[in-house]
Parts: sequence; structure tokens; C-alpha cells
Amino acid sequence: MSRRTRGACRRTRALPTGRRGAAVAIVASVIAGCAAALVFTGARADTSGPGTAAVSAAAPVVSADVRRSGLEDLQPATRAMQLDDGQNPGMLWVIEGESAWARRPDPGAPSCADCHDDARRTMRGVAARYPAFDAGLARPVDLGQRIDLCRTRHQGTAPFGPETAPRLQLEAFVAHQSRGLPIAPPDDARLAEFRARGALQYRTRMGQLDLACADCHDRNAGRRLGGSLIPQGHPTGYPIYRLEWQAAGSLQRRLRGCLTGVRAQPHAYDAVEAVELQLHLMRRAAGMPIETPAVRP
Ligand code: HEC
Ligand code: HEC
Repeated sequence: MSRRTRGACRRTRALPTGRRGAAVAIVASVIAGCAAALVFTGARADTSGPGTAAVSAAAPVVSADVRRSGLEDLQPATRAMQLDDGQNPGMLWVIEGESAWARRPDPGAPSCADCHDDARRTMRGVAARYPAFDAGLARPVDLGQRIDLCRTRHQGTAPFGPETAPRLQLEAFVAHQSRGLPIAPPDDARLAEFRARGALQYRTRMGQLDLACADCHDRNAGRRLGGSLIPQGHPTGYPIYRLEWQAAGSLQRRLRGCLTGVRAQPHAYDAVEAVELQLHLMRRAAGMPIETPAVRP
């Protein structure tokens, strides 16, 4: 049990005291202008699933699979919004991405479509196997970064940059072509060390609140934190339209939210650490269907 003082923030934390099945108490009270008390409430579901165990992309999802997408935890109205393309605000990004696909960035430069033709065919399944290794950079890149690499390498123009509207639109359009397909992380030995670092990051406690991703998304998934239900944290629907943002955003942005939530330093956009974490999340969600564009609170 640790007790620490950092600036004006003092935190005390009591670890599970409940009897088996009873409400576990993890209470981190943060006082003096830092944040509201962090209290997990509600019954804890066994949600670790095949999660961190090695999940083969080819293996069918077995009946013992207790993994659930955040979609299943949405309020009925939000869920209906995601499931109806006419209502899903994320579809606006997909539609913008579709027109950008065919547009030439400069008169002499090729459009995405000039090289990749009909995305419905050529981009089907691509998002399901990202992040992927890029030989030129000798490191993995996520789908948004891959699109920017095509800008610089193949269109001879400037990258859009992380979280810009045009990159999110093209990413949403490309990822949408995989909707319904199972997440299928590539079996590429070059990814192994990066993925392992992502898995380590996932279970390492961080930030002033001293919590690991696993503390919330495995051990306390299904319970409530303040008003929010803690989902299992599967990256099934990115880019998502988030009601809180009133906009679409990438998985990187979502992860930054969780990192700042525990008062940890978020990764810089496109940093290799951010991609490592994504590699781990995609492995953990292997076999779950892509939903892009998902809607989340
Ligand atoms: C001049 C041809 C060319 C253009 C234009 C181009 N790309 Fe590419 N793209 C490639 C090549 C070649 C690859 C294979 C990886 C590499 O060499 O960088 C690729 C790879 C990709 C991939 C990964 C595919 C996979 O199977 O992993 C995506 C996604 C992608 N491009 C999207 C885009 C988008 C979006 C645009 C428009 C902004 C675009 N590309 C423009 C040639 C192009
Ligand atoms: C203090 C608890 C907590 C910690 C620690 C935490 N998260 Fe979260 N996370 C949440 C909550 C709560 C949400 C849902 C927020 C909402 O939808 O309002 C969430 C959402 C997510 C989502 C979105 C899932 C979806 O359905 O789109 C992902 C992915 C995620 N977290 C990953 C992580 C990772 C990776 C870490 C570690 C770096 C982490 N989280 C740390 C509480 C936490």
C-alpha cells in the first residue's frame, strides 16, 4: 500500500478488500483540486477473456470467449446511432474520406485511387491487420501513419499529420472497408518485440493514480467509474465518433485520454510507444469484428 504526496495531490488507495465476488474496493481519493474521487462501483464481471493469452488470429472465437465490444455496453440510443448509417455521425468522416480517395493532391500527383483503385476491393481487410511493420522505418506503423507515408512516399506531398481531419477521414474510409471482418493481427516476427513492449505497458501501473490499463480494463471492466461504465477497452471501432469530442478521433487520441485520466504523461502522437500499445490491443481483440465507425460516449 503506497501513500504518496505530489504537489497538492494526495492519494490513498485501498486494494481489494471484498470477499470473493463481492464488490472490490479500489478507492483512490484525490484531494485538493486534483480530481474527483476515483471510485469503482458495481459488480465485477470476469472479463479477462483469452485477452492477454496468445490468441491466434486464425483461431475461431470459442464459446468461452467473454470479450465484449464497447458497442454492447452502449445506451440504447447511442447503440442505435452506431448501427444506423443514416444516423451515425462517423459516416460523415467516411464519406469525406471517400471523396478524398479519388482527389489528386496536386495536378501532377496521383490520387489514392490512381494507385489503389477501388477501395472496396483493395482496402478490404487492411485495417484488420494494422499496425503493421514498415521496412523503411524499421518499426510498426498504424493505419493513419501508413496513409501519411503514402502522402510523402507516393504522392510527393506533405503528410497530413496526426488527428487532422483529412487523415481521420481517409483512415475512417479505409477502415470502414473492413467493417464486419475479424481483427487479424499479422503473424510477423518483426512485430514481436514491439508487441511485447505494448503488453508490458498495458500491465504496468502508471501516473499519479498508479493504475495500469489492466486494472481498469481487465480487473474492473463492467464496473462503473463515476458515471462511466468501464469497457474492456477493445479497439474495434476506430476511428470512432465520440459524443464527448463531438467529433471523430483516432485510437491514439482515445489512449491519450486514458493516460491523462490516470495523470500519466500521454505519448506523443505517432510515437512508437503509442503504436506498441495498439499492437497489444489488437492482439487482445483478435477475432472480434471491426465496427468502424463506432460511436462511443
Ligand atoms: C503512387 C502510388 C500510391 C499512391 C498515390 C498511394 N499509395 Fe498507398 N500504397 C502504395 C504502395 C506501393 C503501398 C505499399 C507500401 C509502401 O510501399 O509504402 C501502399 C500502401 C498503402 C496502404 C497499406 C496497404 C496494406 O495492405 O498494408 C494503405 C492503407 C494505403 N496505401 C493508403 C493510401 C491512401 C489513403 C492514399 C491516398 C492518400 C494512398 N495510399 C496513395 C502506393 C500508393
Ligand atoms: C482508471 C481506469 C482506466 C484506466 C487505468 C485506463 N482506462 Fe481506458 N477507459 C476507461 C474508461 C472509463 C473508458 C470509457 C470512457 C467512456 O466511454 O466514457 C475507457 C476507454 C478505453 C478504450 C475505448 C474502448 C472502445 O470501446 O472504444 C480503450 C481502447 C482503452 N480505454 C484503452 C486503455 C489503455 C490501453 C489503457 C492504459 C494505457 C487504459 N485504457 C487505461 C478507464 C480506464
